[in-house]
Amino acid sequence: MAGYVVVGSQWGDEGKGKIVDVLGEKMDMVVRFQGGNNAGHTVIVNGEKSVLHLLPSGILNKDALCVIGPGVVVDPFVLLDEIKTLKDRGLTCDHLRISDRAHLIMPYHIKLDELQEQKLAKNKIGTTKRGIGPCYADKYTRIGLRVCDLVDFDIFKKRLASTLAIKNDQIVKLYNEKPFDYDTLVNQFAKIRQDLLPMICDSVSLVNQYLDEGKNVLFEGAQANMLDINYGTYPYVTSSSPTSAGVCEGAAVAPQKLQTIVGVVKAYSTRVGEGPFVTELLDDMGEHIRSAGAEFGATTGRPRRCGWLDLCVVKQAAIINGLTDLVVTKIDVLSDIEKIKVCVGYEIDGKEYTYIPASLSDYAKSKPIYKEFDGWMCDITKIRQYSQLPENCRKYLEFIAEFTKTRISLVSVGPDRENNIIINEL
Ligand code: GDP
Ligand code: IMO
Ligand code: MG
Repeated sequence: MAGYVVVGSQWGDEGKGKIVDVLGEKMDMVVRFQGGNNAGHTVIVNGEKSVLHLLPSGILNKDALCVIGPGVVVDPFVLLDEIKTLKDRGLTCDHLRISDRAHLIMPYHIKLDELQEQKLAKNKIGTTKRGIGPCYADKYTRIGLRVCDLVDFDIFKKRLASTLAIKNDQIVKLYNEKPFDYDTLVNQFAKIRQDLLPMICDSVSLVNQYLDEGKNVLFEGAQANMLDINYGTYPYVTSSSPTSAGVCEGAAVAPQKLQTIVGVVKAYSTRVGEGPFVTELLDDMGEHIRSAGAEFGATTGRPRRCGWLDLCVVKQAAIINGLTDLVVTKIDVLSDIEKIKVCVGYEIDGKEYTYIPASLSDYAKSKPIYKEFDGWMCDITKIRQYSQLPENCRKYLEFIAEFTKTRISLVSVGPDRENNIIINEL
């Protein structure tokens, strides 16, 4: 049995897509288990860039079956567009399967996401406006539509009729907006349904069969620990569990089937959307990191907020996910900074903390306690051996491993599939 998990250990955009693609070469299957097209995972192969939102990043390896798991929320229109984009580039998506249990993001979810953000005004979450929250909300209030409902279209129509009555009430009475037309929605789905049907499967049997046969299965996380619905900076989080526990729930896999749990750590911090960010740099250094790291959202194009690495955040991710290995990415971005800081604790009202407080007002007033490192001031993108890295760079990496009590198995020194230093074979 070889279950691999790749999760984000900060606020997302750590480079998970790249790492899934790198590991994807030896995988028999790659599975998304939560989130939806709020994700933007960038994969660069020989200079050619692909940004994947719903498709697992393993899709570029045609020999690995790719599965959109039960815990994912699927916007079928976005999915078909993404498939078309790859096909237009001569790539195949014949190895894609979609769980019959996954929930459908409906056009009214996207509208409600926008309307709620508008209503929240200055308290907005800063969502990607892809309908993620409203879709998960319907799932848990038990009025959602699932992929399996598309198989028997009469069931889809009946469920849509009863749900739409509730959704239109919200849209019209709460937000004073135009209702969605039932027939238009039915026609939209009737048009795309046939394209989806061949990909629908019982992913519970399929994924477990692969694992039980000893094949390599990789579970690809979207978002990250600090955006987790339970353990992130609530309410400035996403609506799913992007953790290793989320794999068990969102892909129907028992915990003992997960052997290697990789946390991707960006060598500094970024965050998109609202919410507290203790190590945020609102000065020239923040601007420098944003431009050196090309920190602009892969989904919404928004500039990412940048700051120093917060090791309390990464340590929390190591504990919650049971990380067995770290992959540190984008360390090349720090190469021309003379003094680099990492946060090793918080001071709140004169007391020191090393964990993330639940209360946002406490978290927001935390002052970072920094440890400072000398920079290495040279290009490291061509280095492929750990021992060849400058000593100051190794010191920085070794401190990350020591603080989080987790070994670093790979260091990524550039965006392309080839730009890696392998320390332990994963
Ligand atoms: P994800 O959401 O975690 O998959 O990450 P994104 O794709 O949203 O953002 C990561 C960005 O950093 C992408 O543009 C990647 O191409 C890029 N990237 C990944 N690893 C590295 C690296 O080691 N160095 C540099 N300079 N860029 C990287
Ligand atoms: P990947 O997989 C970074 C953020 C949004 C917002 C909050 C809630 O590329 O790392 P949502 O639309 O999910 O309801 O938005 O979560 N967010 C992400 N930030 N990377 C992501 O995905 C994100 N997915 C959602 O910016 O703050
Ligand atoms: Mg991203």
